[in-house]
Amino acid sequence: DISTTLAGVKLPNLLFNASGVCCQTEADLKLMVESESGALITKSATVEQRDGNPAPRYTPLPNGIGSINSMGLPNEGYEYYLEYAKKYDYNSEKPLFISLSGLSLDDNVKMCKAFVDAKLPCVLEINYSCPNVPGKPQMGYDMEAMEKSLSVLAPLIKKPFGIKLPPYFDIAHFDQAAAVFNKFDNLAFVTCINSVGNGLAIDFVTEQALIKPKDGFGGLGGLMVLNTALANVNAFHRRLPGKQIVGVGGVVSGKEAFLHVLAGASAVQIGTMLKEEGPGVFARIAKELSDIMVAKGYKTLEDFRGKVKTL
Ligand code: DHB
Repeated sequence: DISTTLAGVKLPNLLFNASGVCCQTEADLKLMVESESGALITKSATVEQRDGNPAPRYTPLPNGIGSINSMGLPNEGYEYYLEYAKKYDYNSEKPLFISLSGLSLDDNVKMCKAFVDAKLPCVLEINYSCPNVPGKPQMGYDMEAMEKSLSVLAPLIKKPFGIKLPPYFDIAHFDQAAAVFNKFDNLAFVTCINSVGNGLAIDFVTEQALIKPKDGFGGLGGLMVLNTALANVNAFHRRLPGKQIVGVGGVVSGKEAFLHVLAGASAVQIGTMLKEEGPGVFARIAKELSDIMVAKGYKTLEDFRGKVKTL
């Protein structure tokens, strides 16, 4: 049994897409609905439709170590995802999550209001961690801005919601961020981690950057970020009693999904591996995780969630 509950909604299994992968258009979202994922989340929306950055803007890196991207928030605009959410079949037992990534607090207020007014059973994930819009720093690294944003959005949303965070690398930052998040009761989950921002991948032979935007700088994902992801999941699991953690980063098989749950994750999102393998990844990793649980004698995720042993 790999079912879970997130923000009060039941997922038949804990796996779904990381926002940004296979979720921009209705055709993408249909593939997610038809897959064996336990939920789906839409591409981060802005108020206006965006084409994003020039291509090439995503590429896998050699030897399966991961990926780099600088998409630049291409999306259909929030009204497209609101219409999708209005038409969505909520009896399908696959919950719908909506990612919002306003370029200002006013934009986030406008988008949140529209979803709140529509009174839908979908769950909002506010994105504080897009590293790829030139001139727009990630709000996740500005604790005061995040607190101000949450102090407006949390009472507006009223019901349980989540936020998508960038990776933190310093214990003081885990402490500061957790102190902010603990002030908001209906902040139900934090999703850790977005890509490790502003890496640079260079081809050895051609001596060229691998992606075009921002002189080749982009967010890193995949196996190379696994240990950063596990640290962020566990750091917030320890610091946010009564809240849930969605683990994302470096899941390439059932083993990494298992490690995310051991670190404290209540659900697990898949980005790079979904992009590389396609929606069949969910059935594969669900099976691998189930086999690991049988081998270890665990019946449910609660049997080992957050139970990483320290030395
Ligand atoms: C994009 C990348 C992100 O990591 C994110 O959180 C939102 C958008 C992008 O480049 O499209």
